[in-house]
Amino acid sequence: MADLEELFRWLHRHPELAFEEAGATARVRELLTQAGLAVQDGGLPTGLIAQVEGALPGPTVALRCDMDALPIQEQTGLPYASETPGCMHACGHDFHTAVMTGAALRLQDMRNEIYGRVKILFQPAEEVATGAQRMIDTGLTDADCYIGIHSYPAEDPGWLGIKEGPVMAAIDRFQVTLTGRGCHGAQPHKGTDPIPALAALVSALQTVVSRNADPFAPCLLSVTHVESGSTWNVIPEVALLEGTIRTLNAGDRAMMRRRFHEVTEGTAAAYGVKAAIEWFSGPPAVVNDAALCRLARKVALRCGYRVGRQEDTLGGEDFSLYLDKAPGIFIRVGTGGGYPGHHPRFSVNPAAIAPAADYFAQLAIACGQSSADE
Ligand code: NI
Repeated sequence: MADLEELFRWLHRHPELAFEEAGATARVRELLTQAGLAVQDGGLPTGLIAQVEGALPGPTVALRCDMDALPIQEQTGLPYASETPGCMHACGHDFHTAVMTGAALRLQDMRNEIYGRVKILFQPAEEVATGAQRMIDTGLTDADCYIGIHSYPAEDPGWLGIKEGPVMAAIDRFQVTLTGRGCHGAQPHKGTDPIPALAALVSALQTVVSRNADPFAPCLLSVTHVESGSTWNVIPEVALLEGTIRTLNAGDRAMMRRRFHEVTEGTAAAYGVKAAIEWFSGPPAVVNDAALCRLARKVALRCGYRVGRQEDTLGGEDFSLYLDKAPGIFIRVGTGGGYPGHHPRFSVNPAAIAPAADYFAQLAIACGQSSADE
């Protein structure tokens, strides 16, 4: 059996950004093919799909991890810190890759106990939210259920977060350009100032959350970037604003989008400026299947894990794209370290790797067995 901690440290030392995960892909491919696993890349430059064919008839279960790092300068001071300036595994995707490599190797050893088959999806480019779609487009990712993993620094190794229902949010992004007519700062009446329109719009948009959304349903709208003008005595021609909307279900998502357009267009009209809206739809919410949660809990207790509930978040994950056609579960694994994801001091306790590899292998087998039994 490969040394998973050694693999993890290697991955951590050699982080690669989205769609550049060639080193990690080669390393994982080598370990898996050496162990006799079937590996395909579906024509993708990075990422791969491994498959373990079980001895017993049954469904297809998919384990999924992501491989990419972030454009962050590491400050952990670890002996195996990133050797690439400005690039770091600050979200634990090196941990995910090591765990799922270990799970794949264990499953290969347990082929005789597997009902159906297990696909292990090593996905590129999760951080830019486009890798899952690229994987799905290969046509190789079809499965009857999907199991995803994420590190969880707020808990130590030995802890799993398993929660039914929505666990990650749908992510939408907007950009608005308000166009008026520029003029001298002393003669506002000779132009149309887009800045009061922008200021009004930033405030008005918050009423979508406070007045249109159900107070018991988390909906978020953040304006995170505004820009206008260049000096003190000129009224500018344009004002820009961008931000994000986060929701947990399709109804709220559609409502937020509709009200965003109405409020933006109405405010622009009231201030006599033109609004051009650009809308970028991200992945939908990740919703954990209840039956899979029960099974995942059962297997967790059998493997000696403490099971808890992760803190709610409106972060996003393109794991949701796999769940379009089949149920799935996204599980948090306690990795310690103390610093949150995307922080330059984020770290993973390597003690979490081997038990998690065992757990995900056991869970994949249990999923196959339970649907074979039905
Ligand atoms: Ni992540």
